[in-house]
Amino acid sequence: MAIRKVGVVGCGLMGSGIAQVAAAAGFETVVREVTAELLDKGLKSIEKNLNRLAEKGTITEAVKGEIRGRLKGTTKVEELKDCDVIVEAIIEQLAAKRELFGALDVICQTSTIFASNTSSLTITEIANATKRPQRFVGLHFFNPVPMMKLVEVVRTIATEPAVYEEIVAFGARLGKTPVRAHDTTGFIVNRLLVPYLLDAIRALEEGVGSIEDLDNSMKLGCGHPMGPLTLLDFVGLDTTYYISQIMFDEFKERRFAAPPLLKRMVLAGWNGRKSGRGFYDYSDPQNPRAMKF
Ligand code: 3HC
Repeated sequence: MAIRKVGVVGCGLMGSGIAQVAAAAGFETVVREVTAELLDKGLKSIEKNLNRLAEKGTITEAVKGEIRGRLKGTTKVEELKDCDVIVEAIIEQLAAKRELFGALDVICQTSTIFASNTSSLTITEIANATKRPQRFVGLHFFNPVPMMKLVEVVRTIATEPAVYEEIVAFGARLGKTPVRAHDTTGFIVNRLLVPYLLDAIRALEEGVGSIEDLDNSMKLGCGHPMGPLTLLDFVGLDTTYYISQIMFDEFKERRFAAPPLLKRMVLAGWNGRKSGRGFYDYSDPQNPRAMKF
């Protein structure tokens, strides 16, 4: 099957990035959000990204126009009915994802391949809300999607090998390096990243170093683009807390357990960059200041 038309459900941080890369890779792309306001916000962020690329000369104005021309926003799930692949990037809640895919299963042609961008939920448990678990995969992108070169392609025990290979190739056509993962909680990246991030919080709790020193150590000592506490603020403390709970529930290992400080910061609403405060204070976004605990 040739993939021509891509559907993306959710036009938030991840969905808008996925829609952008799909349209930029030459696919006719339809992105769906629940309300016109959320859709408008997502499309504006794509517009901003494309303008930045054009200003830098990475793409020409003509190419920008072509990408825009391939991208359509909608609030109607029915408009996804003739897509060859649908990538879901909605709220990270099992019930919401199952409900969405149950509805898409009825609307879409039987050949459509379904993919979830979930970072921590079990793909098999989402897939079994449909009658096509053999045409269901995980397609996990990284934030910011247009910049990060990786996509994890996840197969379940029910995924048909030919469908899986098609989606691995699709990941490459999106300009990403696909890695092959099984449907184990956290896949590859979060299996390794989450214990590292949680350990950085534990190190802070134990007085191993200050926020700036922990971050600078990994940035300058190991060449990471962001230190772990900056990365936690970037990913979202609420998101990391949620993922850690799912991983701890699955593996029952201390390395996946949320440190008390993370829980308290989430309870206080200090969710990182998006809430203006996390391990750093973002009142002046260009000049974040480390918090004092
Ligand atoms: N969208 C699109 N492009 C963006 C962007 C965004 N949100 N933010 C930055 N960029 C682009 C800039 O335009 C710039 O492009 P250029 O090199 O062509 O000029 C480039 O990224 C570098 O930007 P900056 O100079 O402003 O800043 P940095 O050099 O610090 O790079 C970064 C920003 C790419 C975010 C880099 O800091 C980085 O790679 N950080 C680590 C991000 C990471 O680890 N992400 C994965 C998180 S884990 C995850 O998503 C999984 C989930 O399940 C938890």
